[in-house]
Amino acid sequence: LNLLARPIGRRRLLLAGGAVAAVGLAPAILRPVQAAEPTHRLAPGPGRVRLVGDEYPETTVWAYDGRVPGPKIRVRQGDRLRIAVTNALAEETTVHWHGVRVPNAMDGVPHMPQPPIASGETFTYEFDAVDAGTFWYHPHMRSHEQVGRGLYGALIVEEQKPIQVDRDVTWVLGDWRLKQDASISNDFGNPMDLSHNGRVGNTVTINGQVLENFPVRAGERVRLRLINAANARIFGLRFQGHRPMIVAIDGHPVEPHEPEGGHVVLAPAMRIDLVLDMTGNPGDRTTIVDDFYRDLAYRLVDLSYGQERLREQPLDTPLTLPANPVPEPDLSGAVRQEVTLGGGMMGTMAGAIVDGQMMDMRTMVRHGMAWAINGVAAIGHGEGHNGGHVMDPIFTLQRGQTCVIAMANETAWHHPMHLHGHTFRVLSRNGRSTQFREWQDTVLLAPRERVEIAFVADNPGDWMFHCHILEHQAAGMMSTIRVV
Ligand code: C2O
Ligand code: CU
Repeated sequence: LNLLARPIGRRRLLLAGGAVAAVGLAPAILRPVQAAEPTHRLAPGPGRVRLVGDEYPETTVWAYDGRVPGPKIRVRQGDRLRIAVTNALAEETTVHWHGVRVPNAMDGVPHMPQPPIASGETFTYEFDAVDAGTFWYHPHMRSHEQVGRGLYGALIVEEQKPIQVDRDVTWVLGDWRLKQDASISNDFGNPMDLSHNGRVGNTVTINGQVLENFPVRAGERVRLRLINAANARIFGLRFQGHRPMIVAIDGHPVEPHEPEGGHVVLAPAMRIDLVLDMTGNPGDRTTIVDDFYRDLAYRLVDLSYGQERLREQPLDTPLTLPANPVPEPDLSGAVRQEVTLGGGMMGTMAGAIVDGQMMDMRTMVRHGMAWAINGVAAIGHGEGHNGGHVMDPIFTLQRGQTCVIAMANETAWHHPMHLHGHTFRVLSRNGRSTQFREWQDTVLLAPRERVEIAFVADNPGDWMFHCHILEHQAAGMMSTIRVV
């Protein structure tokens, strides 16, 4: 089922934005064919891949172009992307360009404003890669199942002047709940996952495979772009015997620094770019472990050193990446908004407003709801359920205004909160200023933690603001923020 291989004839081309079919229009009002030609094509649809080892059967997945992760899209900062997405799934889908500051109509949130892509249809997303960095793409339609079955891929925007490394490597981290025969467990959206820490799986893959070894050379410098594409698993990676330097978070440069306690923490949807100097000796073998959930620690992969040394001394060139053109928040003139995250098991939330009605927690869980933002458990457009529901924004910002959101996690669980269309600075945690005031699009809140973020509301539209543990999102932890 390879729709991509079939060239799309001129008469079937969609105009930029994809809303109007070119068929039957007078050539005079068509944009030059040159300009409307897609730069990339993606076909989400069913596929079969080998996730584990040869001794296991293949796994039936949903995937872009039949591959997990989907094709890596790699462009230069400033490039215009026109990505024609042809839906080969049996259900509607969209593509969200996570972390990329796109116009509202290209954001891939169903009905906000463009309708989802029906089965068999094509929609062309068009936007500029304004920021350099490590981004990714995934559906925003019943995400907990569509992403959980394998729909995700990397989107890399190269700096005009990248830092000097020997290899630029992307690792898309996936997490699967597989049965003995390597098929995907069908228990998507079960009440336990919805109301606890989400669908944490039992099989972690790097670029779609369980990896034993990652071959390296003594002395080489690797830029390692980590993307957490898991529904729910938070990674806490330790690189034994190595000193990774964090150079970017969520695509955006940060003052190069070693992770706190040597622990690279990567919540769902987050990206971290590391510079890793291979300081071991030829023949060495060391392990990267993930021990975020202490009771679930495991070996992610071994770094296995070949026999050849690349250079005697590690490279000594600068690690600082050029800043992206993100507007700097003006804190003196900022509006302040309080946002409370509530719900889940072992929490204090008695109930929330669901579809305009107060509902107690028990009834909520019976209806597949468990979480709330400012007392509202959202169902609606943001995830494509209940086609008719409009999501009322939790607040409205004037274009150009700086907004500080003070978030309070009043639950017993972690939540990576993601804002669409904007990049924010993380100002403080539990009242203490952060050291790096990182630019991020997804920020992890620990249980009971309070976090302040700030951003300039420069991108008009209704923007999703939700937890990226996809089961939490599906069970109510989503909202929208309006910029007019
Ligand atoms: Cu990565 Cu609203 O999503
Ligand atoms: Cu959450």
